[in-house]
Amino acid sequence: MWGGHYASGPAAVMSKINACIEVDKRLYVEDILASRAHADMLGSCGILKPKDVKAIQKGLTQIEKEIESGKFVFVEELEDVHMNIEARLRENIGDAAGRLHTARSRNDQVAVDFRLKVRSAADRTDVELRHLQKALLKQAETNAETLMPGYTHLQAAQPVSFGHHLLAYVEMFGRDRGRFADARKRMNQSPLGAAALAGTDFPIDRFQTARALGFDEPMANSMDAVADRDFAVEYLAAAAQTALHLSRLAEEIVIWTSPGFGFVRLSEAFTTGSSIMPQKRNPDAAELIRGKSGAIIGNLIGLMTTIKGLPLTYNKDLQETKQPAMDAADTIELMIAAMAGMIDDLKANKERMEEATERGFLTATDLADWLVRKTGLPFREAHHVTGRVVRLAEQRNCRLDQLSLADMREINPKITREVFTVLKPAHALAARKSYGGAAPKRVKEQIAKWKKRLA
Ligand code: ARG
Repeated sequence: MWGGHYASGPAAVMSKINACIEVDKRLYVEDILASRAHADMLGSCGILKPKDVKAIQKGLTQIEKEIESGKFVFVEELEDVHMNIEARLRENIGDAAGRLHTARSRNDQVAVDFRLKVRSAADRTDVELRHLQKALLKQAETNAETLMPGYTHLQAAQPVSFGHHLLAYVEMFGRDRGRFADARKRMNQSPLGAAALAGTDFPIDRFQTARALGFDEPMANSMDAVADRDFAVEYLAAAAQTALHLSRLAEEIVIWTSPGFGFVRLSEAFTTGSSIMPQKRNPDAAELIRGKSGAIIGNLIGLMTTIKGLPLTYNKDLQETKQPAMDAADTIELMIAAMAGMIDDLKANKERMEEATERGFLTATDLADWLVRKTGLPFREAHHVTGRVVRLAEQRNCRLDQLSLADMREINPKITREVFTVLKPAHALAARKSYGGAAPKRVKEQIAKWKKRLA
């Protein structure tokens, strides 16, 4: 493998630790694409003869077919996808195969393959996230007026709507998509032609290969091109942030489906029963989304830790950067798809949600605001008066709107009958009309905006 100056082969355990072919198998599409682009370029720059380029292209087509049909035998001793393919190419087309590696190194080869892989992962993740946003949006539309308690500290705080709550996630996943898009923009430069690390004496055209592979341009520094994996870090950082959002939504679904809440019912398709408790309908998909987010964060940390101490340029440690990125891509795609399916299918229990807004004095802030507006009390004092009203309702074990006017006037004589209108949760919801607020009017505007964006 290493030609002239190697007399003996590697130890078995060396082959084992050295190989990455199990991971690399997944890079065969990218590896062949990049080899095709490289061969064509060598041809058009007069570095290879047309007949060699033709033989190489034909040989690569054959190899692609062999791999796709499962006939291709990947060999551990050949370490990676690059050498496995090249070795087979030599068997198929003879000497021309040896010319393909002119003016390139596995260092720029792996960098280009891996970039292409991460780029397509970013593109797929974007499609999945858009799909999820659409599912959330549909539920938000159905539930733009579905009253539910909004929480802080998981304590009921103020009335919101289920639609407003779901739109919060549409926004979050929108920003996640932005992060993948940003990462994609920066990663879309071609390392191919950096060769081992310093460029090459051959008159290659890196712009041609960059174009052929859909990159915006070649990377400007050959050492940077083979040494850095920041594109994978950025992809993973975006994936980890997405996983955080998914995990929080999953956690909420677990809470909402618990009997104490009963806000949401998941479909049978996204739950499991219990082998012992016949009544159970467990939100396993949500729990697994919450659970798998840990692995994605771990992938990010693992990748960063692998890279952090490496001197320029290529070090074999970099071989270990592919797995975390590919694993994370698989996991995040699965998580997003499962979440989209779950959201699509779920049913909001409007009665339970609305009922919950009747407990916990959710309109206390509205009472304080009313006192400010109608009686001119400073907000701090209005807050104090409202606190006393709440305490009274607690003592009476009733809702705020079930107190009598006389009771309230005893606390503050400026209170009039009009106050009762603001004590209803539905009224409080409709009143939150400030931009970005929970009022159905505002929520519907946001839904319309997102519908246009996601159309
Ligand atoms: N198998 C290597 C990897 O995936 C390819 C690059 C090898 N380069 C080298 N100089 N040994 O990273």
